[in-house]
Amino acid sequence: MPSPRRRPAGAAASLFGPDFTAEYGALWTRYTRRISPGVARLLRRHGARSGRVLDLGCGPGTLAAHLSARGYQVLGLDRSPAMLRLARLVAPAARFVVADIARARLPGADVVVSTFDSLNYLHRARDLQRLFGRVARALPPGGVFLFDVLTPDELRAGPPQEDLVYRSARAIVAIRIERRRDRIGWVRHTVRTLPRLSGGPPPPIEVHDQRVYAPADVARWLRAAGFTPRRLAGYPGVTTQPGRAVFLAVRRETRVSRRSSAGTRPA
Ligand SMILES: C[S@@+](CC[C@H](N)C(=O)[O-])C[C@H]1O[C@@H](n2cnc3c(N)ncnc32)[C@H](O)[C@@H]1O
Repeated sequence: MPSPRRRPAGAAASLFGPDFTAEYGALWTRYTRRISPGVARLLRRHGARSGRVLDLGCGPGTLAAHLSARGYQVLGLDRSPAMLRLARLVAPAARFVVADIARARLPGADVVVSTFDSLNYLHRARDLQRLFGRVARALPPGGVFLFDVLTPDELRAGPPQEDLVYRSARAIVAIRIERRRDRIGWVRHTVRTLPRLSGGPPPPIEVHDQRVYAPADVARWLRAAGFTPRRLAGYPGVTTQPGRAVFLAVRRETRVSRRSSAGTRPA
């Protein structure tokens, strides 16, 4: 698979366009709906009963709706405008801003969350390490960063290539999944969305590349950024699939340096 790094700038910005996003909102929110009560429980358990929540790669606002209904002030960041149009309908009490989490300045928050593999869209380890540094600076000491991430086990979770077809009232979505076990490890979803009623040209094919990250690296980068990380078996009440790791990282008391990820070599 060609490295996504070589893709033309702007290619990523066209992911989760309006047609696929409408289907995603109808077909793929079940996981986040299932984990949302457990996320809220974990936050309460760590003393965050209210306050500002930053949701990185918030998608269609599923978790934002759950948390804002429980009194949190949620700010969702996502680079897909179509996702945020949906999120504003789903979670009207939350705020949403189009932003690339690989480089956006993060406002102060009491909690930061990122669910359902959003961080795997960061293709360079350096970007993930830097994001951890920015999250640490956005949080107060004791602040919680809760997220999940696809790991190399995901590459063994299915065949190297498989084709799936989903049908909704509005469209047919054909997805080819490729699992690449090369030095870095990628999961690629090639998505073709065919609206049933549209007479116009078919929507563009979307190629979603997600880089898998080893839990040991993630834990090391979190520690370097100023967190005490713990890998969980899943979100409370939901055991995650083997290829997805859930991390709860607590910002340490020590001052977090402006320099990112001391002592680690980005790939
Ligand atoms: C698989 S969806 C998960 C959405 C949501 N967190 C959930 O639990 O349903 C991944 C989301 O991450 C967003 N995303 C991917 N890369 C991003 C980036 N660099 N900056 C902001 N958002 C990004 C996508 O637009 C998409 O909405």
